[in-house]
Amino acid sequence: RPHLSMHALDGLTVEEVPLARIAAAVGTPAWVYSAGALRRRARALTGALKSAGLRGSVHYAVKANTNLAVLRVLAGEGLGADVVSEGELRAARAAGIPASEIVFSGVGKTERELRLALGEDIAQINVESAEEVEMLSALAASLGRVARIGLRVNPDVDAKTHAKITTGRSENKFGVAFEDAPALYARMAALPGLRPVGIAMHIGSQITAGMAAYRAAYARMAELATALLARGLPVEQLDCGGGLGIPYRDEPAPTPEALAGAIAATLGPLNLPVMLEPGRWIAGPPGLLLASVVLQKQGTGRRFLVLDAAMNDLVRPAMYDAWHGILPVSPRDFAAATAPADVVGPVCETGDTFARGRALPSLQPGALVAFLDAGAYGAVMSSTYNMRPLAAEVLVDGARFAVVRDRQTHDAILAGQRLPGWLTEGTQ
Ligand code: LLP
Repeated sequence: RPHLSMHALDGLTVEEVPLARIAAAVGTPAWVYSAGALRRRARALTGALKSAGLRGSVHYAVKANTNLAVLRVLAGEGLGADVVSEGELRAARAAGIPASEIVFSGVGKTERELRLALGEDIAQINVESAEEVEMLSALAASLGRVARIGLRVNPDVDAKTHAKITTGRSENKFGVAFEDAPALYARMAALPGLRPVGIAMHIGSQITAGMAAYRAAYARMAELATALLARGLPVEQLDCGGGLGIPYRDEPAPTPEALAGAIAATLGPLNLPVMLEPGRWIAGPPGLLLASVVLQKQGTGRRFLVLDAAMNDLVRPAMYDAWHGILPVSPRDFAAATAPADVVGPVCETGDTFARGRALPSLQPGALVAFLDAGAYGAVMSSTYNMRPLAAEVLVDGARFAVVRDRQTHDAILAGQRLPGWLTEGTQ
């Protein structure tokens, strides 16, 4: 995490901005993103494809972090987008990502979303079922459009990641069965309003178990592409999905070079452009969640650090038992002796626990801590549970920082709620 450093005077610093300064200006909890780290990681991915001799493009999976400033930084690096909803498509466009660089994935795109995608003339729509193929053909034909479509195929491989984020097994809801793909692809080529352009696979997220699952999936993709081409069907590009894991806890994690190597070894001979859809690898490490200690509580045989951030802000520990590094921000706290502590939020659920028995110093109320590697699937998965406002988001770029999303106000949480007339009649 080259954007993070510890300074004797200023404490934990993102690029050139001390987190204490951000907390003083913006309050906590707050998400903090490093523009420099985002840029470096975007370049590392495009560079890895190039070094492996592949023609290809990187379509950032917008779901990981939809902040417009983050999207803008990545757009500036020439990345395209992988979107899964009308909202994400709008966000990508609003951030300046051209429609010609946008891919739309998802197992349940609505007619309204497909209409928008066709209207914007995005690069590619990845279809995931025979039913969707028929619906999209009818819709595109009725609008006088031709949809460029990829067929998402389920390769039935086990990505060996958390069960909630594995997607490439036959029992998962995603894609069409490998066996059904050739016939459906031929149908796609025959139907009006559709132009099949390639195959897509995405086998899961936070893949750290090496390249074996990727290789198995891409080998199947190569086999399928070869068979389709032999039948005279058009295959112009191969969408290799996302999923590249990051080391949350110093565990070994694959590199972009390893992924590019696996693609080159399996799909290289086809000599087709490849697309990547990474989300976490790009946006995870550049982001952190800054929080304050509300109080330190001595329980029965356990010390609790109660923070002003909670599971409604960062749900990953509660939802996936995810591990995030937690660092004290002040230089004195950073250097102090540690002892095991449970790090918890104020939400009324036992699941609102970020870490158990974590080695941390004694921290006074108001002390700052940072949750590391929280840029992906952090802010985007927040809720207002317990009527807690969505936290502010901050972008750091060199010595500058700016609030790129205001902290939600309490009025904004209540806005849009209505009391029906029959409940208020006679009470005014
Ligand atoms: N492409 C498709 C079709 C996807 O479904 C996903 C993620 C990606 C690309 C990007 O995957 P990535 O490179 O970020 O692994 N909320 C979970 C992760 C859910 C991932 C969903 N799909 C978490 O916090 O771990």
